[in-house]
Amino acid sequence: MFQPHILDQAFRRTFGSPPTSAFRGPGRVNLIGEHTDYNEGFVLPFAIDRWAVAGVRLRSDRTIRLGTDFADGIVEFHLDQVGRAPVSGWSAYPLGVVWALGEFGVDLTDVPGFDLALTSDVPVGAGLSSSAAIESAVGMALNDAWGLGLDRHALARVGQRAENVVVGAPTGIMDQSASLLGAPDCAVFLDCRTLDAEVVPLGLDAAGLEVVVVDTRVSHAHADGGYGSRRAACEAGARTLGVPSLRDVTVGDLAAARRVLDDVTFRRVRHVVTENQRVLDTVRVLRQAGPSAVGALLDASHASMRDDFEISTPELDLAVEVARAHGALGARMTGGGFGGCAIALVPVDAVGEVTGAVDDAFADAGFTSPKVFTVRPVAGAGRIEVTG
Ligand code: GLA
Repeated sequence: MFQPHILDQAFRRTFGSPPTSAFRGPGRVNLIGEHTDYNEGFVLPFAIDRWAVAGVRLRSDRTIRLGTDFADGIVEFHLDQVGRAPVSGWSAYPLGVVWALGEFGVDLTDVPGFDLALTSDVPVGAGLSSSAAIESAVGMALNDAWGLGLDRHALARVGQRAENVVVGAPTGIMDQSASLLGAPDCAVFLDCRTLDAEVVPLGLDAAGLEVVVVDTRVSHAHADGGYGSRRAACEAGARTLGVPSLRDVTVGDLAAARRVLDDVTFRRVRHVVTENQRVLDTVRVLRQAGPSAVGALLDASHASMRDDFEISTPELDLAVEVARAHGALGARMTGGGFGGCAIALVPVDAVGEVTGAVDDAFADAGFTSPKVFTVRPVAGAGRIEVTG
């Protein structure tokens, strides 16, 4: 678990003085609604108790200095170079946020430079949005330090722009929204067309449930390959169907869609259309019957991603099957796919058994041993005290 003094020490070690402020941004787990965000559909993620933390101190010149405990050295940049000089590696995230703030109307010729140190306990490359966690921590920290007055919705779009344009990953708005808009024991129900967000109580504590995460440790990379091709297939499907986005297709339209789409495109479309409906159903069931009743929807979501969207892996399928067989009420892969994590909704007293069974099954299958842990739904990004 993250300790504020770690950031404080890292900042002092790197820059010789303490930060004046620090903000943390959580990672996220998506309860349901996968590959729906860039189709203007619905998602239901929650912020988790793993955070990226950014400590900041403004400078009297226009230099940006960036340090982190996960890479050596300091990256130095001048504010006039933002958007001009190439960026790469981890510094693309904070520098991407600076650039995107400029896109959102901040006059970057009129702000002071800063020293910024980053640390994080969100597992990287596991599909828990370690990058959105950084973007929301940095966005919140600069919004505060520069006195910009941007709200959380705007900061989510800033993070997404940074990710899409500077990092080069064609992702949707879900991760940054979860990281900025989360609330304790709640999920964020987001309409990705209107960007209307509503906090929906999960009631996990009252129901005696835990969310168990199985990190398969098969890394995923959104900037290449499968994610982009799935997005392209969705856009092609919408074009053929003559709609602006797959949000405009309902479950009732699928029979007609099958007649005009090739088999693969049809299955990609069917996943998105049925997944949107499953998000709406999950919100309704949560409100009417509580979290113990959403298991079948999670299972159906996984089957759809495995069979129609084809973004699961043998490790993710095994994690889901074994968790279900040992007491999980429902389970599914979460995030972009092609690796990363599965989640399972598990009664508190079955967590030990599910964990042991997943470990054993991965060993029997000859897979890399997974990391299995529980996460809690927490508040979105916010300020943390610095010891000063
Ligand atoms: C990644 C992206 C999100 C979303 C999911 C799939 O996490 O960053 O925008 O598209 O994949 O639901």
